[in-house]
Amino acid sequence: MKAICYISNFAKGLNHSAISELIEFVNLNNTRHKITGLLILKNKHFFQILEGESQKIDALYEKIKEDKRHKGIIKLLDTNIEGQIFDNYNGGKFETFQKYADMKRLYLYFNWIKNANYLPADKLIHLTTNFLKHNK
Ligand SMILES: Cc1cc2nc3c(=O)[nH]c(=O)nc-3n(C[C@H](O)[C@H](O)[C@H](O)COP(=O)(O)O)c2cc1C
Repeated sequence: MKAICYISNFAKGLNHSAISELIEFVNLNNTRHKITGLLILKNKHFFQILEGESQKIDALYEKIKEDKRHKGIIKLLDTNIEGQIFDNYNGGKFETFQKYADMKRLYLYFNWIKNANYLPADKLIHLTTNFLKHNK
């Protein structure tokens, strides 16, 4: 199993309905394929964490990289994991955030998993909180 984390920028002209369509698809498709993590949309940036079976995550990332709805992708983390850190988050359902208020639950979850022994959890928490700090 592995986790990948990246940031990117909205493509020019990405409108509300295209965003809603993307979010709906991502939440549904990832939940169906037992891919966990999160997608955050802030200040026209995407921040995503994907975790699951290694081949699935690699194949998905290759697809995402080519997607014209965003540009300037920078991979922040690509690491093997022993278990899915977001397995227990939101009942295992993939979640996408756009509003700051929705992130309270995420911070509560981070506080909880800090005490678990998943090695890359610290890195993922650090990357996520850093992103949110710079995109208030
Ligand atoms: C920012 C961003 C994040 C995405 N995240 C996912 C994702 O987590 N899961 C997913 O299935 N598709 C995601 N996609 C969509 C994929 O790029 C692709 O369109 C989708 O997997 C459908 O591919 P297919 O038509 O080859 O099945 C994302 C696209 C963008 C722009």
